[in-house]
Amino acid sequence: MATKQFTIKAAIAAVLGFTSVVSAAPSQSYGTSKGFKLVAQVTDTTKKLSVPVQGALLEGAHVGAGLDVAVLNITTSGRIFYQNGTVEEVLTEKSTIATDGGTPPFPFGLRVTLNANDTSEPTELAINGGVGTTGVTLTKHIQKPGQLKYGAASFIACDETLAYYGPSRHFAIVKAFEATRGAPAIPENCVPIDLVPQCATLPDLPAGSTSSHEFANNVRCFQ
Ligand SMILES: *[C@@H]1O[C@H](CO)[C@@H](O)[C@H](O)[C@H]1NC(C)=O
Ligand SMILES: *[C@@H]1O[C@H](CO)[C@@H](O)[C@H](O)[C@H]1NC(C)=O
Ligand SMILES: *[C@@H]1O[C@H](CO)[C@@H](O)[C@H](O)[C@H]1NC(C)=O
Repeated sequence: MATKQFTIKAAIAAVLGFTSVVSAAPSQSYGTSKGFKLVAQVTDTTKKLSVPVQGALLEGAHVGAGLDVAVLNITTSGRIFYQNGTVEEVLTEKSTIATDGGTPPFPFGLRVTLNANDTSEPTELAINGGVGTTGVTLTKHIQKPGQLKYGAASFIACDETLAYYGPSRHFAIVKAFEATRGAPAIPENCVPIDLVPQCATLPDLPAGSTSSHEFANNVRCFQ
């Protein structure tokens, strides 16, 4: 009897303890999912851009057939991504990050192309029709979710316009560069970010899709 009471008390304490941890830091609650959105976390909050970045979701801004510039938007629902590749490809960081678009859905890939002449010069990320850049992955941790990773590249969000939309509309454009020795020069109109996965349901594909989720992997993500 005494043992049973103790057990119930312990169980209640455990539940209460868990609840208070969750309410104190909701973003620390995590799970695994095949689908995820990528959320920007500004790592240097001393600068403020005219476009919202903190907590904004990654999506594509259409600039041509099957061509999207990677941007962050706080008001839209964001794109649902999945890590595509065999177990071996994921382990050796040779997988890609994909998303589906179009009707019927076909694959788009998250593309990171560093400036070939000078990798410290930031270049725009793209979400283009086809396969993503091999090696764009999430960092691995034993328990918690990782963050977007491509080799030694760092990510920034820049307040800029896109010729396709004219000079008045401002976007938070995501770019990548490799920090060189000495102070990495982050342009005045940009802030450094991490892109962290937030669990999302990977939608079922309708008949006739070119996309396939056969190689979509479970990833750790924030709830
Ligand atoms: C997904 O990964 C599989 C296995 O490597 C590959 O055959 C397929 O082309 C990939 N699809 C995309 C859209 O990257
Ligand atoms: C790299 O340099 C070459 C030669 O100067 C130039 O033609 C090319 O546009 C440059 N590429 C990039 C990505 O800046
Ligand atoms: C976010 O998306 C909405 C709806 O498409 C658009 O009106 C707004 O300009 C976008 N914001 C940014 C910063 O791109």
